[in-house]
Amino acid sequence: MTAQASATASADDVASAQAQHKKNVEISKGLILSRLGSLKPKIAIILGSGLGGLGDKVQSAVKIPYKDLPGFPIPTIIGHSGELIAGKLNGVDVIALKGRKHFYETNDPYPLKTMIRTMKAVGVETLFVSNAAGSLRADIGVSQLMLITDHINYMAVNPLIGANDDDFGPRFPPMTDAWDPALRAKLKDAAKKTGVKLHEGVYIAFRGPTFETPAEIRMAITMGAQAVGMSSVPDCIIARHCGLKVVGCSLITNMGAGLSDEKLSHAHTLEMAARGAADFEKLVAEFVRLI
Ligand code: HPA
Repeated sequence: MTAQASATASADDVASAQAQHKKNVEISKGLILSRLGSLKPKIAIILGSGLGGLGDKVQSAVKIPYKDLPGFPIPTIIGHSGELIAGKLNGVDVIALKGRKHFYETNDPYPLKTMIRTMKAVGVETLFVSNAAGSLRADIGVSQLMLITDHINYMAVNPLIGANDDDFGPRFPPMTDAWDPALRAKLKDAAKKTGVKLHEGVYIAFRGPTFETPAEIRMAITMGAQAVGMSSVPDCIIARHCGLKVVGCSLITNMGAGLSDEKLSHAHTLEMAARGAADFEKLVAEFVRLI
């Protein structure tokens, strides 16, 4: 194949992947709307590692497994189940997204794009993003929550790389105030009302799947981050691109590598997430009432 032919073939591949993606969003939108009944959720909540318990607090729940929604991510990681739960949280219509796909699982941004763009298509206006993260500061302790004020994309990848699909959003979306200032203020109000301790800081995302080295953690601290993880930044970028407002928090499950003697593992992450999950659930239940 000549270089020119191969360039043409790959342009065709891109166009057909985009067309399939759009079809997936349309079909998933139709399926979800047909199941929502009178629910009109304006907020969708992505539940990070070990935080899926919030899904069980959603009342009158309509549950749709991701496998029934074309293009949605099928998680491969323990602690991420892969289910959309729509219903009432504290009397407010919500969609809880139990599970997602990380870049380290496939390197393919489409499953995450399909999930988030479908939220926009069904009428959601705000995406609440949560994750389990490592702390980079001694005063942000394990099992505590940190409001994300901004992020550093250290994943060496951006989910919007490639031909832009103008139907979803612009080529060069700004990332100033990507984590919505007004919603951040409301999340702080919710923390005050519920008495939940809420730190704030910058989240830095590495692509994983390895935990960081102590040298990388020292670098992340120098770069100005307060928490480290392997997710949420692509979620925020895709959501802002298609015009969703974004707010969120990290549940600290460990100190960053080298900052304490604890051994890092996914099992440890899930165990520590379980300890902070009650605060997370209280905080989010109050927050959805305030917006
Ligand atoms: N690093 C990256 N991801 C994480 C961590 C961490 O220390 N803790 C939970 N997820």
